[in-house]
Amino acid sequence: MAEERFGALMGALDAPMAVVTTTAGGERGGCLIGFHAQSSIDPARYTVWLSKANHTYRLALRASHLAVHFLAAGDHELARLFGTLSGDEVDKLERCDHREGPGGVPMLTTCPNRLVVARVALLDEGGDHVCVTGDVIDVHSSGSFEPLRLSDVSDLDAGHEAEERPAPRTERAASTPT
Ligand SMILES: Cc1cc2nc3c(=O)[nH]c(=O)nc-3n(C[C@H](O)[C@H](O)[C@H](O)COP(=O)(O)O)c2cc1C
Repeated sequence: MAEERFGALMGALDAPMAVVTTTAGGERGGCLIGFHAQSSIDPARYTVWLSKANHTYRLALRASHLAVHFLAAGDHELARLFGTLSGDEVDKLERCDHREGPGGVPMLTTCPNRLVVARVALLDEGGDHVCVTGDVIDVHSSGSFEPLRLSDVSDLDAGHEAEERPAPRTERAASTPT
């Protein structure tokens, strides 16, 4: 079945894991992501894909800035915090070291490899994740490092399944008869 082969092929790529954080309207949050990539050289742009199920997605709809933290091999507990809990129930930032960065976005101080983007576009292609692209306005790097990969976090169960639609529902979901 194509779906299974697709899953297996994507899994074989063993994507590096990242934590995206953001803030809007005095609220803050973030989640673990495997869907992220550089999307332009000039201007420098980075893109993340956020699940419509996530608290972080609903924040990103209103946010001006996002921080992307590239996790290193030793960051499994940070992956657990951001990948298995939801901002719908807890403030994850209360549980880890951070400071405010550009636009007030939370920056995880234990992650030296990170960047901040100023949002330029948000695209809902109709799938279960939404594309959020930004201009890279701030970069910190420790040089070469060993990334935490998908295969390192196979023990984690996502805080939200991609098909969930917690309230408030998106406009698209709200217009779909139940
Ligand atoms: C291995 C793994 C990869 C994930 N990749 C993504 C991703 O690319 N985009 C996304 O929005 N959520 C992704 N998630 C799910 C969220 O990290 C998870 O549901 C989180 O608890 C949502 O938190 P929130 O509701 O506070 O935003 C992933 C989870 C895991 C365990």
